[in-house]
Amino acid sequence: MLELQHINYSVHEQDGELGILKDISLTINDHRLIVFTGPNGGGKTTLAKIVMGLVKPTSGRILWNGEDITDLGITQRAKKGISYGFQQPPRFKGLTVRDLLVIAAGEEKLSKDRCCQYLTKVGLCANDYLDREVDASLSGGEVKRIEIATILARNAQLMIFDEPEAGIDLWSFARLTETFEQIHRAGSATMIVISHQERIISLADEVIVIGDGGLRHRGSADEILPKILADTTGTCPVLTKGGAAL
Ligand SMILES: Nc1ncnc2c1ncn2[C@@H]1O[C@H](COP(=O)(O)OP(=O)(O)O)[C@@H](O)[C@H]1O
Ligand SMILES: [Mg+2]
Repeated sequence: MLELQHINYSVHEQDGELGILKDISLTINDHRLIVFTGPNGGGKTTLAKIVMGLVKPTSGRILWNGEDITDLGITQRAKKGISYGFQQPPRFKGLTVRDLLVIAAGEEKLSKDRCCQYLTKVGLCANDYLDREVDASLSGGEVKRIEIATILARNAQLMIFDEPEAGIDLWSFARLTETFEQIHRAGSATMIVISHQERIISLADEVIVIGDGGLRHRGSADEILPKILADTTGTCPVLTKGGAAL
């Protein structure tokens, strides 16, 4: 179980403190698929980075399976089964796709077949990619898919995907949503997926709308999706009508 307790995050700006996340409290039970959605700049990525340990909250606590992990770094959190896929993944010059998969899986002799399985799930062919370096020669969408494949290889207890759809073609996207569905059905992992995609939102056990640094709304996909889809004016009705922070 993941518990966020009164998470605040602010940064120093020239003209004072800028509050980015404001008193977020949230509990996510095991084996749930939770989608964070909401307008750009709302604070979704920052919240996900706080869970992974990439950003330290200004105040508040993070508990993972009952243990306070607020002061633990990324590596320690990874060892405890938390994994994270960047919205814009970094490149790793000198490392091949195979290297990244081997590191992620933690098995020195990860067979080509297994590598191929992970890559296929994100719509890539192992023959074309296994020995490629994860450097500037790959497109943004390719790097993104490779990173998602490494998260699958890591097989973590908590998987966080930040806008996995970004830069991915429709065919690979269909593959990916199938994979999310399979993981969810297998019931071995908790997933937090940050997404704007209807197809992904509809897979969620619970959708949490994050806006202006707070939790604006939460509910089932059936409840939230029509409100998001009805938003053709640019202002999200979920945010304006259900405006009070939870
Ligand atoms: N280190 C930082 N310094 C200044 N502003 C930041 C910093 N980190 C995030 N922000 C701002 O906080 C807001 C939330 O960002 P983010 O979490 O990336 O939103 P989302 O993922 O929902 O689009 C944005 O306005 C962003 O510019
Ligand atoms: Mg983001």
